[in-house]
Amino acid sequence: MSIKPINVGLLGAGTVGGGTFAVLRRNAEEIARRAGRPIRITVVADKNLELAEQVAGGACRITDDAFLVVADPEVDIVVELIGGCGVAKDLVLKAIANGKHVVTANKALLAMHGNEIFKAAQDKGVMVAFEAAVAGGIPIIKALREGLTANRIQWIAGIINGTTNFILSEMRDKGLGFDTVLKEAQRLGYAEADPTFDIEGVDAAHKITILSALAFGIPMQFDKAYIEGINKLDATDIKYAEQLGYRIKLLGITRRTPEGVELRVHPTLIPSKRLIANVEGAMNAVLVQGDAVGSTLYYGKGAGAEPTASAVIADLVDVTRMHTADPGHRVPHLAFQPDQLSDLPILPMNEVTTSYYLRLRVQDKPGVLADITRILAGEQISIDAVIQKEPAEDEEQTDLIMLTHQTREKRINAAIARVEALPVVAGKVTRLRLEQLG
Ligand code: HSE
Repeated sequence: MSIKPINVGLLGAGTVGGGTFAVLRRNAEEIARRAGRPIRITVVADKNLELAEQVAGGACRITDDAFLVVADPEVDIVVELIGGCGVAKDLVLKAIANGKHVVTANKALLAMHGNEIFKAAQDKGVMVAFEAAVAGGIPIIKALREGLTANRIQWIAGIINGTTNFILSEMRDKGLGFDTVLKEAQRLGYAEADPTFDIEGVDAAHKITILSALAFGIPMQFDKAYIEGINKLDATDIKYAEQLGYRIKLLGITRRTPEGVELRVHPTLIPSKRLIANVEGAMNAVLVQGDAVGSTLYYGKGAGAEPTASAVIADLVDVTRMHTADPGHRVPHLAFQPDQLSDLPILPMNEVTTSYYLRLRVQDKPGVLADITRILAGEQISIDAVIQKEPAEDEEQTDLIMLTHQTREKRINAAIARVEALPVVAGKVTRLRLEQLG
């Protein structure tokens, strides 16, 4: 084994930076046996020098200027753990321009600027590895890019945001309110610096954009993703869903259809008996349907210092093994050869096909259900189940809950508009999407 170490420059001395340092040190010998040579962090950059010092612990150089690291002739691989699309983008592009390989956990950067970054990396003959960008420690990128290459992937559905899964689990389990649980998620360190990215579904959309590109060999198209978070979700629907045998999860879904690719994030009812419905707390899980293998499910921690470091270091080992290989012999960034990407369009949400859960506030009198089902039938929407709650004492209105079979989103929207116009229906109809994932 060559004893000359490969040198790493670490940008960002936060939680994951600390975890990467700790795991690399603890498992140094074993990692070197796998990689073929030692992997050594030679410099840590952070605006907060104290933090950099804390992480480095005197074991390497520190600096508050990350631009020095991406230009440092001693550095072979730059690990970008800064996040966001500002300075991180400049640093990654500079590192590539300087011939450095890049390992990044930055899902926003790849989902929004991945096409430009991979093109630059390909032109320069360097690798950009990003296992840590999706579902933390779960090796889902490796699975899609390498383990499942025989398959025509049909769809992926993932719980890929731990913060929202934690919030939904706690709301269902303990009957707690959204705000209380969000504070707890922040205290536990799951939430992004700006938690709106988590609760509005943006973080999950970044991740499903990346998975979609890998699964179908299409460019990153985050701007075409449909995104709906959990911030408008009512606890009542979590309760009714449970009574009907479903759990509500924030899913990132991408599916290949003859007309194009579905790319969407929204709260989704899934049958409680599915394994993925039982993924609770801050855990992540990704379900992949391939034509040869069938369903495979990947489960694990989607965030945290050492789980994410596990993914970062796996990339470091990959880059160390492959950096002397001819670029044409490496695994392509997006699993498909770069000149073989497809122009399959992303479908607008109106054209997506799924099932629905509807909750309506209706007058409890004869003919109401008939009026509503007539409207649904007029849009060719077939009903799967209906429950009507007993009206509370002294109330004339009651909740009516309906599950539909699959239909196009535009059809359900048209039906809802007509249902809401009925004088016996009070207020807005609550509409959630439902997937069998069978
Ligand atoms: N905020 C993210 C989550 C962390 O809650 O899953 C990892 O991307």
